[in-house]
Amino acid sequence: MGDGGFDVSRPHPARRYNYWLGGKDHFQADRDSAAMIEEFMPSVRIGALENRRFHGRVVRYLAAEAGVRQFVDIGCGLPAPDNTHEIAQDVDPTARVVYVDNDPLVLVHARALLTGTREGRTAYLDADLREPDLIVGSSEVRSTLDLDRPVAVLLVAVMHFILDTDDPYGLVSRLTGPLPAGSYLVLTNATTDFMPPERIAIFDAANARADRREDRVRLRSRAEVERFFAGLDLVPPGVCPVTAWRPADPDAPRPALADVSAFGGVARIPQPPSS
Ligand SMILES: C[S@@+](CC[C@H](N)C(=O)[O-])C[C@H]1O[C@@H](n2cnc3c(N)ncnc32)[C@H](O)[C@@H]1O
Repeated sequence: MGDGGFDVSRPHPARRYNYWLGGKDHFQADRDSAAMIEEFMPSVRIGALENRRFHGRVVRYLAAEAGVRQFVDIGCGLPAPDNTHEIAQDVDPTARVVYVDNDPLVLVHARALLTGTREGRTAYLDADLREPDLIVGSSEVRSTLDLDRPVAVLLVAVMHFILDTDDPYGLVSRLTGPLPAGSYLVLTNATTDFMPPERIAIFDAANARADRREDRVRLRSRAEVERFFAGLDLVPPGVCPVTAWRPADPDAPRPALADVSAFGGVARIPQPPSS
């Protein structure tokens, strides 16, 4: 165990992702696990970087164009350039953000996520996405955000760690259900849709071999990702490869879809139909 009470001999998604983004907060077990994944997904680093860019574009869109001032960033990961509060508070210094993650190392670094503006607020909650009611009912969420006003829930590159046995669609509904109309859901999920069959077979075999739950991932098809947004108003262009979601320069060349292999979408919670 490490000094902070976390086990550095076991890989964890936050540290592996930090390694792919070029950060410094990872251990040998994370790098070994990253290398293993790169064997059958050589472009995974490109996917991580493009996912992070999607996150940045979406938060700026929500703050600057949709007028959202409150965010819950679940599976926020280790601090990285352009954290949610940095983008949102750049648009409006009064923006408020609650970060949530279940990795004890993210908790250790949470202070770096809590350096918001004087006018805004940031909070950190050590919690698991598989317990959404605890997140929504937490004192961190309740005392930082006003749940009578729109909130954007970010589930960026975290849903693929939620297996079918965890009831992924139910979890997302329990997070968005208590939010008022005008709130948003942002979600990305890795996919095999663009992979050649031989690579999918290698991936499936590695997933089946993984004996630890946290080493298993659930990649989802476009239709399966769209299902997370059922009943919500998708913001154009809808669920699409993350690189195709409102790119800063639509004419700039983009990485191949197979190299990114992730779908993302943003949707608004509509007014309930009047009775
Ligand atoms: C790939 S990183 C994504 C980081 C950030 N959202 C981004 O897209 O740049 C996934 C994060 O989800 C966290 N995570 C995985 N399973 C989780 C769970 N069940 N509850 C909360 N966080 C989880 C990991 O610890 C990690 O920090």
